[in-house]
Amino acid sequence: MSLAETFIKNAPQGISPASDEIAQALSRLEPRTQIFIDGKFVPAASGKTFDRISPINGKVIAKVAEGDAEDIDRAVKSARKAFDSGVWSDLAPAARKKTLLRFADLLAKHADELALLETIDMGKPIRFSKAVDVAMVIEHVRWYAEAIDKVYDEIAPTGPGGLGMIRREPMGVVGAVIPWNYPLLMAAWKFAPILAAGNSLVMKPAEQSPLSLLRVVELAAEAGIPAGVFNVVPGFGPTAGAALGKHMDVDAISFTGSTEVGKYFLKYSGESNMKPVSLECGGKSPNIVFADADLDQAVMASGMGVFFNSGQSCNAPTRLMIEASIKDQFLEKLKGVAANMAPDNPLNPKTAHGTILDGTQTKRIMSYIEAGQKEGAKLFAGGKQVHQASGGYYIEPTIFDNVKNSMKIAQEEIFGPVISVIAFKDANEAVQIANDTIYGLWASVWTKNIDRALTLSRKIRAGTVTINDVDGGGITLPFGGYKQSGIGRDKSLHALEKYTQMKAIYIK
Ligand code: NAI
Ligand code: MG
Repeated sequence: MSLAETFIKNAPQGISPASDEIAQALSRLEPRTQIFIDGKFVPAASGKTFDRISPINGKVIAKVAEGDAEDIDRAVKSARKAFDSGVWSDLAPAARKKTLLRFADLLAKHADELALLETIDMGKPIRFSKAVDVAMVIEHVRWYAEAIDKVYDEIAPTGPGGLGMIRREPMGVVGAVIPWNYPLLMAAWKFAPILAAGNSLVMKPAEQSPLSLLRVVELAAEAGIPAGVFNVVPGFGPTAGAALGKHMDVDAISFTGSTEVGKYFLKYSGESNMKPVSLECGGKSPNIVFADADLDQAVMASGMGVFFNSGQSCNAPTRLMIEASIKDQFLEKLKGVAANMAPDNPLNPKTAHGTILDGTQTKRIMSYIEAGQKEGAKLFAGGKQVHQASGGYYIEPTIFDNVKNSMKIAQEEIFGPVISVIAFKDANEAVQIANDTIYGLWASVWTKNIDRALTLSRKIRAGTVTINDVDGGGITLPFGGYKQSGIGRDKSLHALEKYTQMKAIYIK
């Protein structure tokens, strides 16, 4: 049994694990804390570090190198050199596949360790870090590895006078900036297709959750991904993140995070080299339940869809729209789901609802809960910060009833375990409310009426519409937003479009 497995088996029970238990686990895990450039860990050029604090007990768990513009520049130079050398970019796709499959095997071998790092760093329940996040990361790497030697280029219908070829080439040096809500999975949504397509990569994890990615990049090198191809620079947004966005030698940017920062990346591009920018930003997803739906399934998914990951999911179905005639009955059942999702110590393998990311996010969520009450919505369940004595950050599953779509809690992304319930009378009104938002990432519809389901799936302006579920399709479906939810798509073969250039070649 590995050290990580032993720790998970003997996970501390109760809300406040003795801090020395986390410290002991960390001393055995030996978290990597430096910048990974050109195949090696190095300190920041400035020598600076920043504290990582675990949301489980509020204690410092690591001092991480604080990369800034100089480190980003070093990483980009290394990525450029690797790209131009052809050591990865010129490999046959089948050769890249082999290395990426080895990488996936190494991730699988270290799954417990990665899951434990993720949970200690950002408070996700250990059972999900392992069975959902790390498992999906491995699946993603394998999927793109297996896909890349099966993608064909095109011959154009030029007529017999010549031959027109349309080829997809790697972009070159891709920069990626990652959020903290699914630190490894959001990184994998990017690094798997970016690397499979033959690019070099400079990735900046969120300052709140760098530890798991720093171990992953080391495993990538161990698998044989050449030095300089995959670099990771931890650091803050306005320094390291902005430097990557503005770098003159970065060929494309891929970002996931807030809409506010997504707009910065568009500016950075305009102020520098016009690099293409793909953005996966916020959401305020409508979840529309008609009276003819399978209510038990709808209740469970509507609750879990938001309370999972403490509501810190960009596509969480946070605007729960219920046909007026069944609203009260539905809410009584939903209260039961909320009661079963009381937050607890994420290191306990039984826990399904862990911490909030940190004190800042906790304050932000609590201010929305206050705003909802001030604006006249009815606090129907939860609403309190709990377990403060542990030093960690926990908020009860929360349900607001009688929400109007114009209220702050229906318009703004809360990123916490908070559901805003809005009643509607018919399908037309449901569509109107669903689309009355700056976002368009995701929507869900619950009904047994196939005509209505298909009509709504067309009329709702969102990148994904699910019928009779709030999730589904896994890696096979593209993920991304309409409107201010973003530009471009992650997952599926369509993700490769962002990471390749189209080249036309004509032979007379
Ligand atoms: P953020 O958008 O500020 O952070 C995401 C990433 O962008 C991090 O790596 C960060 O270092 C980087 N970043 C921040 N400011 C930057 C700048 N000026 N230039 C370049 N890079 C920068 O998100 P934050 O502040 O951590 O969370 C605030 C809210 O954003 C959340 O409450 C949530 O509503 C939303 N959010 C949405 C996410 C999604 O998946 N769509 C993920 C994370 C946050
Ligand atoms: Mg921010």
